[in-house]
Amino acid sequence: METIAFYNLKGGVGKTTTAVNIAWQAASEGVATLLWDLDPQGAASWLLNSQQKSLAPKKLLTGKTPIGKLVKSTDYANLDMIAADLSMRHFDALLAQQQEKGRDDLIRQLVAPFAEQYQLIVLDCPPSFSLLSEQIFKTADALFVPLVPTPLSLRTFEQTRDFFKEHQLKAKRLHGFFNMVDRRRTMHRVMLAHPPKILKNRLETVLPYSAMVEKMGEYRAPLGCFAANSPIAKSYQQMWHEMRALLSEFSGGQA
Ligand SMILES: Nc1ncnc2c1ncn2[C@@H]1O[C@H](COP(=O)(O)OP(=O)(O)OP(=O)(O)O)[C@@H](O)[C@H]1O
Ligand SMILES: [Mg+2]
Repeated sequence: METIAFYNLKGGVGKTTTAVNIAWQAASEGVATLLWDLDPQGAASWLLNSQQKSLAPKKLLTGKTPIGKLVKSTDYANLDMIAADLSMRHFDALLAQQQEKGRDDLIRQLVAPFAEQYQLIVLDCPPSFSLLSEQIFKTADALFVPLVPTPLSLRTFEQTRDFFKEHQLKAKRLHGFFNMVDRRRTMHRVMLAHPPKILKNRLETVLPYSAMVEKMGEYRAPLGCFAANSPIAKSYQQMWHEMRALLSEFSGGQA
C-alpha cells in the first residue's frame, strides 16, 4: 500500500481537484483506492457525491468507531472514500488531546490496517499547517504539492520544505507540481522554462488552466467521466502515470 497526500499550506491551488482526479484515474486502471477527505470543507466528498452522516471524529480518534465503518463505496469501481463534513473542524484539537496522552502518530495508525484492502490511499488535506498536517507529513509515502507558478507559491513550498528539514522529515518525499498553468502569462512561461532549484523533485507533468476543472462541480464527477478526451483529463492521466512510477508499490522504485 502507498499513501499519498495532496498538501499545500496555501488554499485554492488544486489539492482537492487533483486528489479526486488522480484517485479516480488510479481506480479506473484497476488500483484499489481509498480517498480520505480530511478537510472540513468536504469538497472532495461533495465532488464525488458521497453521502456521509456526521463523522464523530472524537469516536474515531479514541477508537470507539473503527475507521472501517466510515468507508463508503463511490459510484466508481475500485474507488472508496471516507467523506468529511464540518465535524472535522475540531480534528486538530482532538489530535492534540490524544497527543497529550502520548498518541502522536494516530493518522498513520488509522491508515495502516487498510494495507489489507487497498493499494493506494489518497489524502486530501486542508490548507493549514497544523498537528494534522504534521501527522500527514509522517504518514504519507509521497506528498504532492500543487503550485501555481508564482513567487508566493514557491515561498509556501519553501516553508514546508524547511519544516521538513527542521523536523528530520525526508524532504525528498515532497513533490511540487505546476497547476493552473497559463502559457500566455510571462511569469508562468519563465518559471516553467527555468524551474527553481527547490523544485528539483517536482513532477514533470504540468496541469494547464482549464475551465473544465470547474465543471467537476456541475457534474459532481471526476473529469474522466464527462470529458475523457479533454487535454486536462489527459494531463491527470499522465500525472498519475508519473506518480505511479515514483511509488514503490507500483514500480519497485523509491517515492
Ligand atoms: N487546472 C485547473 N484549471 C482551472 N481551474 C482549476 C484547476 N485546478 C483547480 N482549479 C479550480 O481552482 C479552485 C480551487 O481548486 P481546489 O478546490 O482543488 O483547491 P484546493 O487547494 O483543494 O483548495 P482548498 O485549499 O480550499 O482546499 C476550484 O474552483 C477549482 O475548480
Ligand atoms: Mg481542497
